[in-house]
Amino acid sequence: MPPIRPALLSGAAPPRYNAAPFPGGPPMRVLGIETSCDETGVAVYDTAGGLLAHRLYSQIALHAEYGGVVPELASRDHVRKLLPLVTEVLTIAGRPGNRPVDAVAYTAGPGLAGALLVGASTARALALAWDVPAVEVHHMEAHLLAPLLEANPPAFPFLALLVSGGHTQIVDVEGVGQYRLMGESIDDAAGEAFDKTAKLMGLPYPGGPVLAKLAERGDARAYAFPRPMTDRPGFDFSFSGLKTAVLLAINAARDAHGVVPADAQAHIAASFQQAVVDTLVIKCRRALEASGRKDLVVAGGVSANVRLRQSLGEMTAALGARAHYPRFEFCSDNGAMIAFAGAQRLVAGERTDLGIRVRARWPMTELKAPA
Ligand code: KG4
Ligand code: ZN
Repeated sequence: MPPIRPALLSGAAPPRYNAAPFPGGPPMRVLGIETSCDETGVAVYDTAGGLLAHRLYSQIALHAEYGGVVPELASRDHVRKLLPLVTEVLTIAGRPGNRPVDAVAYTAGPGLAGALLVGASTARALALAWDVPAVEVHHMEAHLLAPLLEANPPAFPFLALLVSGGHTQIVDVEGVGQYRLMGESIDDAAGEAFDKTAKLMGLPYPGGPVLAKLAERGDARAYAFPRPMTDRPGFDFSFSGLKTAVLLAINAARDAHGVVPADAQAHIAASFQQAVVDTLVIKCRRALEASGRKDLVVAGGVSANVRLRQSLGEMTAALGARAHYPRFEFCSDNGAMIAFAGAQRLVAGERTDLGIRVRARWPMTELKAPA
């Protein structure tokens, strides 16, 4: 069993996270619970003091031998890990007693239904026991708002690029819950393209970060992979065809024993990564120009990609715009973003009734602004 990653804010470290979006009103401590996929994330966010504690347990080792997430195993592992993590986080945040927080926020979708149900039912039960309100959080809204936890966050309105394992979207954001979808992938998400390509290349799960690491040693100009749909107007993406281009390159690179030399592997990885990055950058530049927005928020697991950050940085600087990211540990799934997104809605008075609902699919554009 892999060790639980240490709390970022244990010990004497002062909270360095933004609490600015909460002018006035009584301070509220929110417990955030994330169980939508293969990470159990728990955090406490204080609207006056910022993030007080955060813990993450990753199930990577559990799923590695299957080459991908096994939903039923994910659910069972959330059952095992969630309550111990809640206890740890509450201990770090430090307010023992019968009501350690003022509210509970939990991911209600999109994600794996069974995994979501573990978080939703636990969160609802805790809220009932502590007699505090609970609120459902949309996982992608939480990703989108995560960069606002950092210092000098952008003010609304801004443009957002959401790049995760399940979504690739460009969203025009007027405010919390006010989302206009400008473009999205018509097939594979960017993270999914990384994962599937890594699998084709025989790289271990989880493929995306492993492929990105391998790409550091390769020449991104070695292979001319397509930049799909960039020759057409609009902001949509298509990444599924890239897999075929990579497969052809892999087969062509095999030596007499059928082995792909290490150099060629690295060049293919770097060229593939650059093709995805260029495609994302071209569409984001187009969307910034079309919308006139000056801030681009980038979030979701793929926003940890260093090459993507470099290229977006160059593009936004040339346009006189700025790119904003979560810190690396909050790019992929975590409890802090759920506590923070939930807090945004809780301070506005939003509450979820006692029903326990989860949604495997849930378009973000169905969300409404908090009242
Ligand atoms: O946001 P996330 O943790 O989970 C979802 O909501 O899907 O994103 C996970 C995705 C995976 O596809 C993973 O391969 C990808 O993010 N990813 C990366 C990197 N780190 C994570 N892709 C490319 N480069 C990275 N450094
Ligand atoms: Zn996610």
